[in-house]
Amino acid sequence: MSPPEHFAVEYAINPWMDTTAPVDTELAVKQWEGLRETLTRLGHTVHVLRPEIGLPDMVYAANGAFSVDGVVYGARFRYPQRMAEAAAHKRFYAELGWKYTTPVETNEGEGDFTYLPSYLGGVVLAGHGFRTEVAAHSEAQEALGRPVISLRLVDPRFYHLDVALAPLDDSNITYYPGAFSESTQAVLRQLFPDAVIADEEDALAFGLNLVSDGRNVVLNTEATALAAKLRSAGYVPVPVELTELKKGGGSVKCCVAELRP
Ligand code: ARG
Repeated sequence: MSPPEHFAVEYAINPWMDTTAPVDTELAVKQWEGLRETLTRLGHTVHVLRPEIGLPDMVYAANGAFSVDGVVYGARFRYPQRMAEAAAHKRFYAELGWKYTTPVETNEGEGDFTYLPSYLGGVVLAGHGFRTEVAAHSEAQEALGRPVISLRLVDPRFYHLDVALAPLDDSNITYYPGAFSESTQAVLRQLFPDAVIADEEDALAFGLNLVSDGRNVVLNTEATALAAKLRSAGYVPVPVELTELKKGGGSVKCCVAELRP
């Protein structure tokens, strides 16, 4: 995670960003601290990446890379405003001593890649359509040695996979079907008959931009309807307030790059 000390909405690269809306950076940091404390309280270790001046979106740490079994597939950002973030993440993994592949193809890390360790022995789900190029999916498969399933996003409001779909545990997911093409919806129905189905309201509340440890599901406070669905499915919703970071087009999951040693 990387604190939003330099967070601002200075450019608009997704439909949520309005450069004329005021941003309260202090409140953003306070809310981010709340997320970090929640994860720590749930027993997770949080490493902090030093925020850099001139990189206002660096708080969305999920986009900096994607790792599986201690192997890292690096990011290559779509927009020039964020490109320099990849190097900070690369340095972090170098310090951990993890094998790092520098990508040729445009991809935004965990924004568009996620992993289900117990599904068919370990499967990567990958989004394309707005940020990550579909060619990055096969590049990731070669870098990580895991099967990658390509999912096509079609609604610009849900421009990354992690605002449209999330793993709830090692083999099941929750998703909003309307964010995906008809054919991808058929693929998801086939692969995940027991998925928790979210609706447009859940997705617009950034409810799907969640982090789950298989039991506790940390999600945005505004996603009350999705929280209720998750509770009936046997999970424990843990709400966290992140209103300021929504102004950049992200929530809980965007702030967290999960490390899979
Ligand atoms: N303003 C950032 C962008 O448009 C938000 C990134 C959100 N991150 C995410 N993992 N969905 O790139």
